[in-house]
Amino acid sequence: MSLSLKGRSLLTLLDFSPQEIEFLLKLSKEVKNENKKGLVFRRFEGKTLALLFEKRSTRTRCAFETAFGEEGGHPVFLSTADIQLGAKESIEDTARVLGRMFSAIQYRGFKQETAEALAKYSNVPVYNGLTDLYHPTQALADFMTLEESFGSVKGRKLCFVGDGRNNVARSLMVISAKLGTHFTVITPDELNPDDVLRKKCADLAEKSGAVITVTPDINAVKGADAVYTDVWISMGEEDKREERVSLLTPYQVNQKLMDLTGSKNSIFLHCLPAVKGEEVTADVIDGAQSKAWDQAENRKHTIKAVMLATLTKL
Ligand code: CP
Ligand code: NVA
Repeated sequence: MSLSLKGRSLLTLLDFSPQEIEFLLKLSKEVKNENKKGLVFRRFEGKTLALLFEKRSTRTRCAFETAFGEEGGHPVFLSTADIQLGAKESIEDTARVLGRMFSAIQYRGFKQETAEALAKYSNVPVYNGLTDLYHPTQALADFMTLEESFGSVKGRKLCFVGDGRNNVARSLMVISAKLGTHFTVITPDELNPDDVLRKKCADLAEKSGAVITVTPDINAVKGADAVYTDVWISMGEEDKREERVSLLTPYQVNQKLMDLTGSKNSIFLHCLPAVKGEEVTADVIDGAQSKAWDQAENRKHTIKAVMLATLTKL
């Protein structure tokens, strides 16, 4: 299967069809195999990538820089503490200028609207490296990891336990609804994902056969193939610490919760960075059921696949 995504931006997986997402996952697998065989290509030679960061990053930055650089491309890291974006100069004008100099732009920051404006005014592909609303490249790596563990993701049960309204939970809901994976968000009522997104995902799920559930009951992990958690306090929400710790302490992923799945073959996932002792205990994330480190590696392969598909002729 080959289909053209050349010139496309990845702002949210809502913009991609199930076939397009499956194509990206297949390409990611090929890219990983090439990497394991030690094959080296120059598929980004002569291309440039702007890496705009308003928030911190380890995995996303390193994945973009290494995936692009090792194929002969030139990535340029631009912290928004140093450039004009939205400060002296409008986002539209920065986008216009970057579009004249770069082949593509990665943006990590607060507003989804900033990613959208960059795409609209730059005329080059823009990749959302995390906003307050979505983290689409993460969800691709997560589903690649699920495929590695279970083969097909269709009909599998994925449970997200924790802050159900955050960017990672929202992106997992979208990709699950598109690909037919049953997705349960286990979160206190105060942190439920918003109704607009739930409605969109319910409509998508009807077509794919996925069952999307939101519940405060941790016993809903029963039968889960994978249990996923993320930090209780996302970047930019530091003032919510006290409230989140109080709401989410009963939702910590520990061995007792993993055992509630009823299977030793269930896996544990985490996008990282993790605060061990808060959302997950060290024995779980460092234990035999954890795939968190494969997930982190898969960020690079999936991100390379997205850039290959959108910047080159495959
Ligand atoms: N998972 C993830 O996005 O990690 P970073 O914040 O380190 O990029
Ligand atoms: N929800 C987290 C994800 C970090 C990769 C955050 O936004 O900080």
